[in-house]
Amino acid sequence: MKTLKIGLFGFGCVGQGLYHTLQHSTGFKTRIEKIVVKNREKLRPIGQEFFSYDKNDILENSDINVVIELIDDAEEAYKIVSTALKNGKNVVTANKKMLALHLETLLALAKENSVSLLYEAAACGSIPIIRTLEEYFDNEELSRISGIFNGTTNYILTKLASENLEFAAALKKAQELGFAESNPESDVEAFDPLYKTIILALHGFGTILKPEQLLRFGITTLKKGDLDFASKNNFKIKLVPSIQRLSENRLSAYVIPKFIPKEHHLAKVDNEFNGVIVEGQFSGEQFFVGRGAGSLPTGAAVLSDISALSFSYSYENKKLRQLQQPTFSDELKINIYVSSSKAADLEIFPFEETFEDFKKNGFYYRTGKIGLAEIKQLETVVRTRKIFVAEIFEQH
Ligand SMILES: NC(=O)c1ccc[n+]([C@@H]2O[C@H](COP(=O)([O-])OP(=O)(O)OC[C@H]3O[C@@H](n4cnc5c(N)ncnc54)[C@H](OP(=O)(O)O)[C@@H]3O)[C@@H](O)[C@H]2O)c1
Repeated sequence: MKTLKIGLFGFGCVGQGLYHTLQHSTGFKTRIEKIVVKNREKLRPIGQEFFSYDKNDILENSDINVVIELIDDAEEAYKIVSTALKNGKNVVTANKKMLALHLETLLALAKENSVSLLYEAAACGSIPIIRTLEEYFDNEELSRISGIFNGTTNYILTKLASENLEFAAALKKAQELGFAESNPESDVEAFDPLYKTIILALHGFGTILKPEQLLRFGITTLKKGDLDFASKNNFKIKLVPSIQRLSENRLSAYVIPKFIPKEHHLAKVDNEFNGVIVEGQFSGEQFFVGRGAGSLPTGAAVLSDISALSFSYSYENKKLRQLQQPTFSDELKINIYVSSSKAADLEIFPFEETFEDFKKNGFYYRTGKIGLAEIKQLETVVRTRKIFVAEIFEQH
């Protein structure tokens, strides 16, 4: 077992959670050599001697063999992580945005420099989904990965439905509890689950997706009428990313709010919890549930990566190395619900089939079947007009 000498970037919610979990772990030998943070004025809960404001105190320190990157700035994180890999240091990161935007380059850098880049905490907090996909489902062909990948929006949706809280109040509570990203737009506009979808597509299917390929709708346009539709139909609203194999060599991926029957196991995943459904060709459906955000659960996922590093673990990206990987396609038809305060807004959607049309007191919705590619073309106008779009659950 290697002794790990750690250089830690960031001492916020996750950094402090990791520090706490490390203090209570006896399974492996580690020492935090230095912690680099940004703000010189901030009071720190541990001795000032640990801290530095100069990244080279870690990156150029030859004693440090592991860099843990836990800052909230994806571009700076990319500079830190790529330099660390080039300098021959193993890296653990929780930064899904940085990973999703630079996946190919970072994988290549880790390979060229024969070091590990691990990031279990970057997808679904404490649920060990990346290593499960890497190690257990390394061979079986998957048909779908879907679920609830964002703790903040799940917390907000839970509070909106169960406590009648206003959106802003529910978001504020999520921020106070440390679930939300520093910039909550990343959560509520569904960038965060989109980044996680990209990470899971790599490990589950061997496909490297680009953010702009994926349809992405968040929850900011959700209205009272949509909550009423959910309750009238015995649904809960969840923000559900989905990666679905369409054929041997094609897959679709998108992130969208979804109406799910209340009795479905995913609908029972509330508050900051995340749930991941993995459907294998032979194994059928597996369901993983756990805390998707928060200081200690996320710290625990980082801790697990550090422990894995002490046994020289690295991802082998076995699905990426298979002969053929499915490529992105948006030739999927889904059942959707669209709502607005203007009747004309519903007319822009080229439904192939309409199931229901509703209008009452200046609130309009329509449900029906539509192609993913057709909705993707409307993405900008849907956002500008603040139309709420959600998928409706279908039994497979
Ligand atoms: N919070 C969660 O539940 C959660 C869950 C999964 C993944 N993550 C990911 O974990 C990472 C950290 O999130 P967080 O919630 O811990 O953020 P946070 O509480 O806002 O803390 C961010 C930390 O990064 C430091 N920092 C920012 N820019 C820096 C720079 N240029 N150089 C050095 N340090 C810098 C800050 O320094 P100062 O202390 O000086 O301000 C602070 O200590 C993010 O990538 C996030 O997406 C978070």
